[in-house]
This record gives sequence, C-alpha cells and structure tokens, in this order.
Amino acid sequence: IITMNFLEERIMKDGVVKEGNILKVDSFLNHQMDVKLFKQMGEEFKRRFAGKNINKIITIEASGIGIACIVAECFDVPVVFAKKSQSVNIDGDVYSAEVESFTHKCKNQVLISKKFVGPEDHVLIIDDFLANGCALQGLISIVNQAGGTVEGIGIAVEKGFQQGGQIIRNLGYQLESLAIVDGMNAADGSINFREE
Ligand code: G4P
Ligand code: NA
Ligand code: NA
Repeated sequence: IITMNFLEERIMKDGVVKEGNILKVDSFLNHQMDVKLFKQMGEEFKRRFAGKNINKIITIEASGIGIACIVAECFDVPVVFAKKSQSVNIDGDVYSAEVESFTHKCKNQVLISKKFVGPEDHVLIIDDFLANGCALQGLISIVNQAGGTVEGIGIAVEKGFQQGGQIIRNLGYQLESLAIVDGMNAADGSINFREE
C-alpha cells in the first residue's frame, strides 16, 4: 500500500511531468500559489523542526518567497530573502555567495544585507525545489559568514535523483523535504515518491 502525504497527493493531482526531468507545479506552488497548501506545509515544518529554536526564516528569490512567508507566519518569526545579482562587484554591506544554476547555465551572486542576518540568528532555510543544491549551499554559506546557525532546511519538492539532497545531508544538516521525487516519466506522467 502506497501512502502519500498532502503534498505528494497534490503533485499527483496537479503536477505535470515534462521532458528533461522537469516537474511543473506552477498551478499551485510557484506561479499560481495555493496559500492554504502553504499553510499546511508550514505546520508540517513546525512539527518536523519542533524543539529547534528558530528565530528567522531565510529563502532565495523568486519562487521560494511565497512559501517562506507563510512558513514564517507559522513560526512567528521574520523572513528574509536572498537577492540574486548578476554583478560581481558586491559592496561590503552584504554577505554574498556565488551560485551556479545547472538548469539555466549561468552564475549569480546571491546576497543578503548584513543588517538582516547575524550571529544571533538561528535560521530555518526554506525553498520550493532542491535539485543540485547550489542555491542552498549559497544560503548556508551566507548564514555561516554572518556567524549565524543553520538549524534546518525545509524544502517542498526534492528531486531525489539529483545530488543536492545527499550533499546537504552529508554535511550534517537536518533537511526535511515534504516530497522527494525519485523518478518520473514524461511519456506516461508517472511520478515515484521516496517512501518515508
Ligand atoms: P539548485 O539550486 O538545486 O542547484 O537548482 P538548479 O540550478 O538545478 O535549478 C535551477 C532552477 O530551476 C531553480 O530555480 C530550481 O528551483 C528550479 N528547478 C529545478 N528543477 C525543477 C523542476 O523540476 N521543476 C521546477 N518547476 N523548477 C525546477 P531558480 O531559477 O534558482 O529560482 P526561481 O527564480 O525559479 O525561484
Ligand atoms: Na524555481
Ligand atoms: Na527556488
């Protein structure tokens, strides 16, 4: 018997498998957004990170922001999103990291103002997708530069057949992905979720 959680069920219902191992979830997750679903996700992250003293949510623009806002409300803490910049000349008022996108074949600087992350911060990092994990490693680097603590990482959809999840878990972080896709097939639309 295969039991699916609320997000896996929604992905089965409204997700679309595209060629090239791309999962389209733009009708509910990262273009049109189902805020009630995000609320459920926030409550699930609260459960999974219970006992951690989280005082800030950090995400990266663009499509992590919506989810992160709702999660922040569940945790009753502020939320900060890292900005992407093409520019290599970053001034001294920000922490920055270079992030390479395999999907888009480009490099971006991601940055957060030094005003909004520091040694007092116990951070939950939130994002919509985890693929190769480059964006996540950039965010982790920024929190570390600031002297803050990464208490955990919450992801909506992890592509388990790409390397990001394994890299991040091997670094020792508590990474909680609400749906882990281990395989999908554009021809018949099938999606295989990892069992708990
Ligand atoms: P990585 O950070 O995990 O290394 O991501 P990667 O470069 O592989 O992916 C580039 C972008 O594509 C990321 O968004 C990521 O969220 C998104 N992505 C990866 N696989 C899928 C997928 O199967 N479906 C969808 N819908 N998106 C996917 P981004 O461009 O960095 O940010 P954003 O502006 O879209 O938020
Ligand atoms: Na994205
Ligand atoms: Na994203």
